[in-house]
Amino acid sequence: MSLPRGDGFVHLADYRPPAWRIPSAELQFELDPEATEVLARLVLSPDPARPGEPLELDGEELELLAIALDGQPLPPERYDYDGQRLRVHGVAANCVLDTRVRIHPATNTRLEGLYCSGRLLLTQCEAQGFRRITFFADRPDVMPRWRIVLRADRAAYPVLLANGNPVGTRDLGEGRHEATWENPHPTPAYLFAIAAGAMERVTSSLETMEGRRVELNIWAEPGDVARCAYALGAVERSLRWDERRFGRCYDLDVFNVVAAQDFTMGAMENKGLNIFNARYILADEATATDADFLAIESVVAHEYLHNWSGNRVTLRDWFQLSLKEGLTVFRDTEFSSDLHSRALKRIEVVRLLRSRQFPEDAGALAHPVRPDRYREISNFYTMTIYEKGAEVIRVLHTLVGEAAFRAGMDRYFADNDGRAATLEDFLSAHAAASGRDLSQFARWYSQAGTPELRISEAFDETSGDYTLTVTQNTPPTPGQPEKQPLLIPLRFALYDEAGQAITTPPESDTTVRDGLAELTRETHVLRWRGLGARPLPAFNQGYAAPVKLHFEYTVPQRARLARLERDAFNRWDLLQQLATEALLGTPHAEAATAALGDALADLLSDASTDPAFVAECLALPDFDTLAEALPEVDVDALVARREDLLDRLAEELVEPLQARYEALAAVARGGLDGAAMSARALRNACLAWLTRLDPEARLSQAQFDAAGTMTERLAALRCLLHFQAPGAPAALQAFRDAHAQDPLVTDKWIALLATRPDPETLADVQALMATPWWKPANPNRVRALLGSFARSNPLGFHRRDGAGYRFVAGQVAALDAINPQVAARLLGGFESWRRWAAPRRELAREALASLQGKLASPDGRDLLQRLLD
Ligand code: PHE
Ligand code: ZN
Repeated sequence: MSLPRGDGFVHLADYRPPAWRIPSAELQFELDPEATEVLARLVLSPDPARPGEPLELDGEELELLAIALDGQPLPPERYDYDGQRLRVHGVAANCVLDTRVRIHPATNTRLEGLYCSGRLLLTQCEAQGFRRITFFADRPDVMPRWRIVLRADRAAYPVLLANGNPVGTRDLGEGRHEATWENPHPTPAYLFAIAAGAMERVTSSLETMEGRRVELNIWAEPGDVARCAYALGAVERSLRWDERRFGRCYDLDVFNVVAAQDFTMGAMENKGLNIFNARYILADEATATDADFLAIESVVAHEYLHNWSGNRVTLRDWFQLSLKEGLTVFRDTEFSSDLHSRALKRIEVVRLLRSRQFPEDAGALAHPVRPDRYREISNFYTMTIYEKGAEVIRVLHTLVGEAAFRAGMDRYFADNDGRAATLEDFLSAHAAASGRDLSQFARWYSQAGTPELRISEAFDETSGDYTLTVTQNTPPTPGQPEKQPLLIPLRFALYDEAGQAITTPPESDTTVRDGLAELTRETHVLRWRGLGARPLPAFNQGYAAPVKLHFEYTVPQRARLARLERDAFNRWDLLQQLATEALLGTPHAEAATAALGDALADLLSDASTDPAFVAECLALPDFDTLAEALPEVDVDALVARREDLLDRLAEELVEPLQARYEALAAVARGGLDGAAMSARALRNACLAWLTRLDPEARLSQAQFDAAGTMTERLAALRCLLHFQAPGAPAALQAFRDAHAQDPLVTDKWIALLATRPDPETLADVQALMATPWWKPANPNRVRALLGSFARSNPLGFHRRDGAGYRFVAGQVAALDAINPQVAARLLGGFESWRRWAAPRRELAREALASLQGKLASPDGRDLLQRLLD
């Protein structure tokens, strides 16, 4: 790791190992929201290979009260601190550095370092927040063992938590007490955490596969603890699953999780002390939707699974971020797929990839899964690092198969345990275990942009020879004009006239086995000899390769394949393709609409298909996904075409929609079993279509009034609000009043308000900001109102007069002074601005340009510059 070069970027190529190591760190906190004092005792030892390097530590906004070397107070000429780095002069050998600093949690609105959330005191250190707590080599390849002593007022802070195992508590007199924690595993500072306050817990205990007794606790503010039970179960399931599927056990005596209302991201995997955004912990059926429950389970798993992929094996530097994030998303996705429906999980992931990661990869902020330079690392917690990173791991899994993948993971964990690893370490473990050369595969990490596959067919009527020609290409991205061919696993199937799969393998100029071709060059050919008739091909089953695939099906072919295909993901995807054809105004739009209507009618009346799958088929591609497929986006035209199609299909499908809505009523009534959740998913999908046909929205009103679960109530409220039903204001009022004390449910109605598809919604958003509901220091509230407006309200954000862009830009400037990471995420809504058709492109550019000179944070400035460059 290193400091920025003259160009303002940190470069991967400049990495140097730490000149000083810190084998152990002892911290003592005198906790107080206004002014906390932190005593740090660091054991320092120079790298013997590089003696004589200066001793420099990171430190930000720290008030230095005392400093001593080997027990001797340091005179001022022996050190200097410029607000960023502390330099200690004239030290060359092993030594002990003591510092005492003062920090101010109550005014820390950035929520990095030590801060207050409600009455809790907590920390967030990834990526570079630890330097806001005390002086340290704040880089992931410096990994001490830690001892942490917390002292605080007992009444205000009865519970004192830190990383590792608890080793003792004592009373300090005068109402103060102390707790000591030890983390025996070498751990980088970004995984440091403490949490203090009047928390209550739900708890359980289990024995790991290795025979270790572990106490599991979820902590929350007292009123919330009743809603932690589901998350506790999710921790247990995650722990057991990692034992079963990856042979990985938990490695401390206690696993603590804390829920906080103020948290910038989703959650954080600190060693032995995960800290969560409360929205990913708190749930019961009256306040959380089925989607919330599933998200909670998967985020709990994600953080738990980091204990091996991230913590035991950590990162050498921040360029390797996807080494823990992509890998852990892959692992949590497998967890959810093993526990629930694999096909539905795949659909969920691919929807996210297409609507958010593809636009990122095609826009101004595109970057490789392993970037080679950054100005501000907090801007790299992206869809590409997480979601594409996970897809790339899935590509590897597909190429080598489950057994070799598991062997490669075992080897990676064994070889790198307790170390700070790189992508090369990961690849060499997998290369050794699978016996494969992974050098071409590694290009997935260095090349940005979504690869495209174009497949064409030829059939010779006389010989019966059938040929598929596959060409790959990755478009240019910022800084990467030329791309090399990738190693792409292409799954395929051929169906004969009777709808039977043809099992004869093709001849090919590349490796083909079991319906999988390994594409390595720009062009490959697959050839079958002597087929009786032209077959119907299908590709990319399970979406094994994260590519855009083009094959010129006729409408009847797509429709036929949507029934024939063995692979459930592809059946869903073929309907998405029909909808896209219908929506993007191709010459076949009419035929595609008709075929889609027929297919949906059949699905709706087929009681043997999982209702949740039918619901996914009813959900057409969203605005962002469609926009991404267009060279230039005419917002009004696209939204209007989508609405027209939905209206038309709703009329055509009214009978089966009503029938299914009624038939599923009893099963949907309550409970978190799969059947009930599936039934609610399909009923709510039907409800949204049916409400299009009824200006009074009677069905939605009835569902709202009778709902026994938040899933049903919120879906009905969305219909009432978004279709501006007569009952909408009263329903909103009732909902608001019923949940006024609950910030997470309040976020839900605020997000509904912000996403009403209408240019006039901007006024509603602005009006809300004049009420006490507006809490700009709370990231969830900002996301619910402004994030939803900028990311999920095309008609509002993209108003023709540019007022949506100006408004969001203005809010970015205001929030930059409060929480720069939250502000920077909002700016991401502009990533595709160059493809917006006139007059919007120019209006967006003006809104962005107006921000120049107005953003103080490195986060905001970096993003703005990349957007405008
Ligand atoms: N590392 C966290 C996760 O994905 C995300 C995170 C990043 C949280 C930065 C806070 C700050 O699990
Ligand atoms: Zn993560």
